[in-house]
Amino acid sequence: VTLTQDDLKRIAAYKAVEYVESGMVVGLGTGSTAKHAVSRISELLREGKLRDIIGIPTSTTTHVQAISLGIPLSDLDSHPVVDLSIDGADEVDPALNLVKGRGGSLLREKMVEGASKKFVVIVDESKLVKHIGGSGLAVPVEVVPFCCNFTRGKLEELFRGAGCKAKLRVKVGSGGGETAAVTDNGNYVVDLYLERDIGDLDAASEAILRLPGVVEHGMFLGMATTLIVAGKFGVTVKDR
Ligand code: A5P
Repeated sequence: VTLTQDDLKRIAAYKAVEYVESGMVVGLGTGSTAKHAVSRISELLREGKLRDIIGIPTSTTTHVQAISLGIPLSDLDSHPVVDLSIDGADEVDPALNLVKGRGGSLLREKMVEGASKKFVVIVDESKLVKHIGGSGLAVPVEVVPFCCNFTRGKLEELFRGAGCKAKLRVKVGSGGGETAAVTDNGNYVVDLYLERDIGDLDAASEAILRLPGVVEHGMFLGMATTLIVAGKFGVTVKDR
């Protein structure tokens, strides 16, 4: 049998759920990989193999999925310490730095995963890169809607040396018209497309966050504690 990419995502997700123990507060990630982890957790709850789990969703989409599966939910206001989070990523480098947010949920993901004692990242092998931000995929930045084109221009200027093109993320309506894509927090997303390596990641992160108008960016540096990669030749687990 040949495994599809979705099979690999499910395999990585199921492996990650082995880290979940009864009584834990669990951060529930967002995306096509994380959704397999959420449904696996609900399955184990139904079978009585897990008990007393409290889920902390990282998006309204995951909130809706978890509610429909009967997983008890809470938030960081009530549970400021999360035992374990499980989430996918768009890119992962060898030091377990990530790019996230292609699905637009980066802010809530970073809040929940940043509050987690353990953060398990689940990917199929297509997500592995040498340098994050350098593979032609965008680094997403959540910005406030106010004068978003001004902020977009400032972001592009910041990484001119890396050949940056900053684009406001849009969605196409049913009538074919384009409008700005809106995050769960009512903000917009600017995608940074880089021709060359962004260089020092911490410096890039700080420079982005210093810009007024920026809310958060999708580089998750030094946050992941475990990486689970599913590939054609099996599953590998790497701890940081
Ligand atoms: C959501 O905003 C993202 O950060 C996702 O977690 C990430 O894009 C991975 O999604 P997939 O598992 O669907 O590739």
